Amino acid sequence: MKIAAIKSNDLSDKRSTLHPETLDKLTALEGVSVSFEKDLCQGMSIGDQDLRDLGLECLSREDCIKNADLLIVQSGITEDEINLMKPGSTVIGMISPFANKDMLVKLASANVNVVSMEFIPRITRAQKMDVLSSQANLAGYVAVIEAAKHLKMALPMMMTAAGTLKPAKVFVIGVGVAGLQAIATAKRLGARVEAFDTRDVVEEQVKSLGAKFVKIDLGDTGETDQGYAKELTQEQIQKQKDLQSKVCERSDVVITTAQLFGKPAPKLVDTATIHKMKPGSVIVDMAVESGGNVEGSIVDECVEINGVMVIGQSNLSSQVASHASFALSNNIINWITEFYDAEKHELNFDFEDEIISSSVLVHNGKFDSTRIP
Ligand code: NAI
Repeated sequence: MKIAAIKSNDLSDKRSTLHPETLDKLTALEGVSVSFEKDLCQGMSIGDQDLRDLGLECLSREDCIKNADLLIVQSGITEDEINLMKPGSTVIGMISPFANKDMLVKLASANVNVVSMEFIPRITRAQKMDVLSSQANLAGYVAVIEAAKHLKMALPMMMTAAGTLKPAKVFVIGVGVAGLQAIATAKRLGARVEAFDTRDVVEEQVKSLGAKFVKIDLGDTGETDQGYAKELTQEQIQKQKDLQSKVCERSDVVITTAQLFGKPAPKLVDTATIHKMKPGSVIVDMAVESGGNVEGSIVDECVEINGVMVIGQSNLSSQVASHASFALSNNIINWITEFYDAEKHELNFDFEDEIISSSVLVHNGKFDSTRIP
């Protein structure tokens, strides 16, 4: 089986889908050869020779696409590129299915199978393949570092001869994978941290990190069977905004991470709340790519609203490209090694397996479009 990895179409993305330190599991598979697009790891300052030294072949993008039985992509591929692919081959990667439905239809008509790493189920066996978690974890860390860079005060308390410096107050809204890492990072840096999530189960996790859970009773909220938050009613959102506004007012940093799988992010911090915050405070809107939690946040921009810096930087994990690529590469290689049939030298699409039935969106030319509303 010929495996090839190509670069992201997004030139600002410094991550790579293969990391040299993770490749031994892949190259050890019998009957597998691996090639990569020139400059694949450039974003993390790793040259092509490092990959060649591990037995990989460096090819042009076109040759990677034409020859691959399994093509590892970091974002989508274009229609022209789809036309180059071998019928019966497979694309695997973070393909943003909700934004790329047309691409999935085209891949299906070209008889190219598609594995979406975003659809790895939230089950214990699949954690090692969970790209959303591995990238959200690093993004949560970067969000705090970004906030600290823009904040005009230090995060920890310092008792100095020049007086006591009070610790910064950080409020994290949404405590999934990114939120938990943001809390942990802010705590490590000495900030005083509060957090809120609509899922009650989160309270214990927040407390175990030494942060305070803000209690806001919104009535019935709940979570889906995959552990994602359910969408709130307009009345619940309004109540949440009113009650958490006071916490925003007293915070120096607000980090919002609230997302709804496959749906636009809820708007949770409005302009009126931003106007009540202290000038010099910082908001990081981690949901900016899916519509944003914060009124006025703009993708890839820092906007000042009434003296408050609103950061809408996308793809935060790309800022720690080496670790992000290491994790991404491991996630994808774990999927491949799990489903590679070493006797037949091909992938085993066993739809009885929950990971296959969740993550494979196109197979044998068939695309169940109802899964991507
Ligand atoms: P996510 O990125 O979809 O959302 C981030 C957070 O925003 C979630 O905690 C969600 O509850 C929260 N949220 C949504 N609406 C909100 C609102 N109006 N106000 C405040 N918060 C709001 O979530 P993520 O990080 O993907 O995690 C979702 C769940 O999946 C978590 O319970 C996580 O622990 C679980 N998980 C389980 C795994 C497993 O293998 N068992 C692996 C990874 C995550």
